[in-house]
Amino acid sequence: MTIKSKLEKEQLTSMSNLAKASYLLRSGSVIAIPTETVYGLAGNIYNPDSIKQIYKIKQRPYTSPLIVHTCSLSRAEELVAEFHPLARVLAQRFWPGPLTLLLEKNNKVPDYITSGHSRVAVRVPSHPMTLELLRSLPFPLAAPSANPFGYISPTTKEHVRKQLGSKIRFILDGGSTHCGLESTIVGFEGERVIIYRLGGIAQETLEEVVGEIDRYVKADVQHKYPPVPGATSRHYSPNTQLEVGNLDTLLKKYSKRSLGVLAYKTPVEGITKKYQVVVSRKGCLKEAAKNLFSALHYLDQLEVDQIIAPYFPNYGLGITINERLSRADNVTKRIDL
Ligand code: TXA
Ligand code: MG
Repeated sequence: MTIKSKLEKEQLTSMSNLAKASYLLRSGSVIAIPTETVYGLAGNIYNPDSIKQIYKIKQRPYTSPLIVHTCSLSRAEELVAEFHPLARVLAQRFWPGPLTLLLEKNNKVPDYITSGHSRVAVRVPSHPMTLELLRSLPFPLAAPSANPFGYISPTTKEHVRKQLGSKIRFILDGGSTHCGLESTIVGFEGERVIIYRLGGIAQETLEEVVGEIDRYVKADVQHKYPPVPGATSRHYSPNTQLEVGNLDTLLKKYSKRSLGVLAYKTPVEGITKKYQVVVSRKGCLKEAAKNLFSALHYLDQLEVDQIIAPYFPNYGLGITINERLSRADNVTKRIDL
């Protein structure tokens, strides 16, 4: 170890976690940060080397752009050419929070952040620690979810450590994320508001504020913009085989295999406690959303032959949960729209 790196190590040990995170980001490192949705793999948007590291660590294709995180609406405004009036309404109501807005960027945002697209995805996360971190930095942070490309998103420090621990210098511990699903991504075409990715804010909740919203469908040729890359292929998958459907039918189908069960309110009969996760005993979709990815991480490390999961009630956050589960399902053949 050189004298310089020894000194740096000593300094880092005596710093608070937030100061350490801030120092490392300023010096170009990529670190994991908590948000209210999932943990992110963060770097300075103006440092091309940091951004390269993010893609390398995540093994993510450069065609998939990164969400930019800022600490306030006014900081977000500095990055866009024009803040769509409906975007402003949504930002005022839901920021800080799990909402990402796709807006025409200005030339302060490097093209490598948006993979060459004209729009930038921007959000103000509500995790208090990360908000404080963002306020302390003279630059916004690009942060995709801190998981290898295509795997389940991390909702605890431990998930990040297991998946990427050897590749990053620091994980800022902010506890379990309280929303548990990635942000809802919304774009605008004229007066239309379009959901590009379902997420931690339900469509109905957004509609209470801006009226009817469309869901992006690739087959709908009317769209001016390409789909959110990565949002239509198989994603969020565990390594173990996972099938989603009616639990009784799946229990019969896989009766000869060792099973891990993700259940909504009540455990299924005939499967030991250790091999089941009930995501919300009181039947609350918000709680189920918070526990969903954690349950998948847990079941995946049990090394069973097969994981099974039910579809959830198809309203509110249940729609996002069902969408995540159907894309995590690596048994059923899916046709992307
Ligand atoms: O909750 C979240 O959004 C988390 C936390 C860390 O903020 N981040 C997250 O990032 O989920 P990521 O990279 O895993 O997913 C972002 C999605 C990707 O599908 C990406 O292609 C899309 O957003 N995206 C990002 N920038 C975009 C842009 N300029 N145009 C179109 N799609 C974009
Ligand atoms: Mg992701």
